[in-house]
Amino acid sequence: MDNLKNLRGTVDLLPDQLIKWQNVEKIIFEQLSRASIKEIRTPILEMTELFIRGIGEGTDVVSKEMYTFLDRGDRSCTLRPEGTASVARALIQNGISSNPLHKLWYMGPMFRYERPQAGRQRQFHQLGVEFIGYDSVRSDVEIIAIAWDILGKLGIKDLNLEINTLGDVNDRLDFQKSFIKWLEINKKFLDIDSQNRINKNPLRILDSKNSETKKILENAPRLFNFLSEKSRKRYSDLKKQLEDLKIPYLENSNLVRGLDYYCHTAFEITSGALGSQATVCGGGRYDNLIKQMGGPNTPAIGFAIGLERLILLAGKELEVQRNTDIYIINQGLIAESLAMDLSRKLRNYDLFVELDLSGASLSKQFKKANKLKSKSIIVIGEDEASNKEFIIRLFDKSNDENKEEVISFDNNIKLENWINNNLLLK
Ligand code: HAM
Repeated sequence: MDNLKNLRGTVDLLPDQLIKWQNVEKIIFEQLSRASIKEIRTPILEMTELFIRGIGEGTDVVSKEMYTFLDRGDRSCTLRPEGTASVARALIQNGISSNPLHKLWYMGPMFRYERPQAGRQRQFHQLGVEFIGYDSVRSDVEIIAIAWDILGKLGIKDLNLEINTLGDVNDRLDFQKSFIKWLEINKKFLDIDSQNRINKNPLRILDSKNSETKKILENAPRLFNFLSEKSRKRYSDLKKQLEDLKIPYLENSNLVRGLDYYCHTAFEITSGALGSQATVCGGGRYDNLIKQMGGPNTPAIGFAIGLERLILLAGKELEVQRNTDIYIINQGLIAESLAMDLSRKLRNYDLFVELDLSGASLSKQFKKANKLKSKSIIVIGEDEASNKEFIIRLFDKSNDENKEEVISFDNNIKLENWINNNLLLK
């Protein structure tokens, strides 16, 4: 039988790789807590209908990329391709109107059947942040600032924030009419993908990567010219407030985003270091989604950061793990049992303690402690065990006599003093 393998577009994250993930996640969690954003967890599996209604049938995500199947009860289910629709559903279902303002975040796996390449997977992870019930331009600016600051806290440089406005529903309908007319006239100059989108999702054509199509589009009607006074003012206020915060931005009138629910502010943060999958963060306003899904009229804005891309961008310093504080070397049956007991006691001091369970020779255990760069070691050999004591020593500083103590197992005060002086107060 062939060896079993993971599915294409999915990856195993191994312990060494996860050090960086965990460090990145820790910085993110701290930053989110500082901004008083609360976590929400929704199921990974949802009714397919949620995404058809939420994201839009004409989008690539819904029409080509979803992992959809019938469960044993013949219900159509989908592995979530993104988190916004699920958050909207969860809030409607749990009574959004009793508290109309929410600042929420989520983190977890998402699934899209795309062609895998560097920075693009079929199972990938997102951090999402959603501000529900907020409609002021200030909330758009706070959302962008939060995304920007998370990337900044992770030390990621050379990022571009691109912004655009998609106007409200009426602005877009007006634009769409004349845009479709123009597209029909110029259809033969467009690439096949764009031709197919004319009736399904014309706005996405603006986002085409085809160079010929891009050139032709330079003469197409501009969404900006169809915006109402109010929408234009909203956009100029957004730019002004970003400038006040000294968050640099580029305007990109072709930035339309791949999901149907957006209106007004749309933004992406990209990095040249990521190659063709350059977008690390994408988001925007979605004032109609919650109503369209059966909830009360509720404005909202949010973003999602792709964690795989974030990990690619984050620096090497985040690959470092806190060293073991104490490595417990032991030999013999009595020593093993005393060592086990001691390791549990020491972890209560918030120390990183590794208990050697190998049963190998003392010298091999020393070598392992050395390799791990443990700050200190405890040795319990057969002699120590029979004397009910252990040796504790700061590793690497063996010539400093004060750094080694023999402590009896019942002398908690001596142990605590040693830990405080040598490990905790350092
Ligand atoms: P999105 O632009 O589809 O937006 O995805 C956001 C980010 O997820 C992308 O910028 C990218 O970093 C990452 N991403 C997407 N697909 C993949 C993939 N196949 N492999 C690796 N990373 C990927 C959304 O999902 C919206 N829900 C964002 C949002 C929240 N808008 C408002 N609130």
